[in-house]
Amino acid sequence: MRFDPSFIDKVRDANNIVDIISKYTQLKPAGSRHTGLCPFPDHNEKTPSFSVTEDKQLYYCFGCKKSGNIFHFVQALQGLSFVESIEFLANKAGIPIPKSEQERNPALQRMNDEKKSAYQLLQSAAQFYHNNLLKLPETHPAKQYCKKRNITPEMVKEFQLGFAPDSWDSLKSFLASRKISEKLGKMLGLLKLKRSGDGLYDQYRNRLMFPIVTQAEKHVGFGGRVLDDSLPKYINSSESIVFHKSKILYGLDQTSKYIRTKDYVIVVEGYMDLLALYSHGVQNVVATLGTALTPQHAKLISRYTSKVVLLFDGDKAGQAAAKKSLAILLEEKLLPRSVVLPDNMDPDDYINKNGVDSFKEQVAASEDLFFIVMNDLFKNYKGAATDKVYIMEELAPIMSSVKHKGLYELYMRELCDRLNVTEKWVLSMVSPSKKSNDSLSEPVQQQAPEPVVEESLMSLAKAPRHELYLINMALKNKDHFVEIIESDILKQISDQNLSKLFTTAEQLYRQRPEDFDKLTSLLVNKIDQPAYLTGHMREPLSIMDDSASKKLIEDCKIKVKKSYIKAQTQQRLSQLKQGSDMKEKLEQIMNIQKGKLDL
Ligand code: UTP
Ligand code: MN
Repeated sequence: MRFDPSFIDKVRDANNIVDIISKYTQLKPAGSRHTGLCPFPDHNEKTPSFSVTEDKQLYYCFGCKKSGNIFHFVQALQGLSFVESIEFLANKAGIPIPKSEQERNPALQRMNDEKKSAYQLLQSAAQFYHNNLLKLPETHPAKQYCKKRNITPEMVKEFQLGFAPDSWDSLKSFLASRKISEKLGKMLGLLKLKRSGDGLYDQYRNRLMFPIVTQAEKHVGFGGRVLDDSLPKYINSSESIVFHKSKILYGLDQTSKYIRTKDYVIVVEGYMDLLALYSHGVQNVVATLGTALTPQHAKLISRYTSKVVLLFDGDKAGQAAAKKSLAILLEEKLLPRSVVLPDNMDPDDYINKNGVDSFKEQVAASEDLFFIVMNDLFKNYKGAATDKVYIMEELAPIMSSVKHKGLYELYMRELCDRLNVTEKWVLSMVSPSKKSNDSLSEPVQQQAPEPVVEESLMSLAKAPRHELYLINMALKNKDHFVEIIESDILKQISDQNLSKLFTTAEQLYRQRPEDFDKLTSLLVNKIDQPAYLTGHMREPLSIMDDSASKKLIEDCKIKVKKSYIKAQTQQRLSQLKQGSDMKEKLEQIMNIQKGKLDL
């Protein structure tokens, strides 16, 4: 694990779950809880069933049953890994992230510090441009332009859109007033060196500004659009220590949660396309920055979904881009589909002209991209041998990039049928240097190990119900907890994982009895599904009074004990059968059975 437990605790303590969740949904205090509408996009509700317990730092939705602690929340909502969720919350709380061994290297450290300053500068600049746009009178051309392009004030806010004033030094003066380094501004492409070599000027002037933010909420660059037909239409940030066009997907910061819950992503080419779809409620979208998809883009997408619908422009360039993307997506085991919008319209044009329902129909009618590419190649096919070779030459590199075994077989069958050839012939055409077969026979796990090493999580799926009740009752309140750990029942818990968890809970509690409320939140990070330990937050356990609670705990203990006795007896009996010392074993069995008399 990249971080040690004490650091994770520090991050947990420094963030309040109510504050974090309040950014996503409005919470109101209700007794010992806060309640509100469920913030998860796959759970659209009208009456609040989402509840947050500040004392215990846990959330639970009575509707969709999602539950967990603050780390689960940001992982689920922002699509981050556990490690990323820790970094994200550490940054939010201003806690410096401990450096790993290799990061202690001074050169690397300098680079990381520089990156951090870059994020900060870009964020300040984004805020500066954004405030400029908000301040403008309605009659200003930038405001008029937004109106013309159907960019509502809500979208301006949501995407922090801005305006770079028509001036040579407005950002320059802003940075100076904040004592922010000009040199860094230049490195990030926001300031440019004057031709005279004497001083810097603003790169972005009189442009509508689109800040580019990663899914971990880091500002990495800008796109800036002119307000008329002059050229260049857009200026994107130049490559820098934080801006790598080939790795960035515009919009992911806002849209990753929708992509994950809808389980597919629509990929468009432009900023305006993304905004148009988003404002019409089609929110599972990302935009490339006008480039073809790269392998890094595909990897990024694969963290959220495997289903991809490409919506590239209907023009030649757009279609070429879609074709180029095919192999890259297949290489990452993604399932690419595509649709060509009519009349060379881009998604923004289309939705404005035909409305969102018609747009959704287009997406629903998207087709397998491999078949689109193949059909295109077959357009002039007459069955000649040379036609077959020509088609195979085009498709060979694509076939060798198919990493999904099922897809590969279907594509292969289709190819053989349409070309009227054998699989052997197709294989002979697939360039041997690409070794498609080798890569197919490799187990998937061996490809590209994830850089993030996570602690392996325990599963409680096999724990008996009464044992789960017992731990939930223990976590519900301190008196129960103390009573349960002080009885000798814990030694008799049958589920190994649950037993470990109880031991951990006991240790944590003994170290800091005053932190009892934090226990659940600590423990849920050790198991694969938080729901097993948040049972005490929902009915019937949550509303059980004291005497009912005592009764339930007693019942559970009896069941634990009975199963324990049964298991132990059986173990001795089987040892007996295998011929171990008869007298000793029989005595042990008698002793074990005596336990029953106490029940
Ligand atoms: P488009 O030319 O399709 O523009 O470029 P658009 O997104 O439809 O924008 P509008 O509707 O004309 O305002 C697609 C993307 O290519 C990049 C931008 O990222 C743009 O969103 N691009 C385009 C540039 O970087 N520079 C350019 O000059 C043009
Ligand atoms: Mn457009």
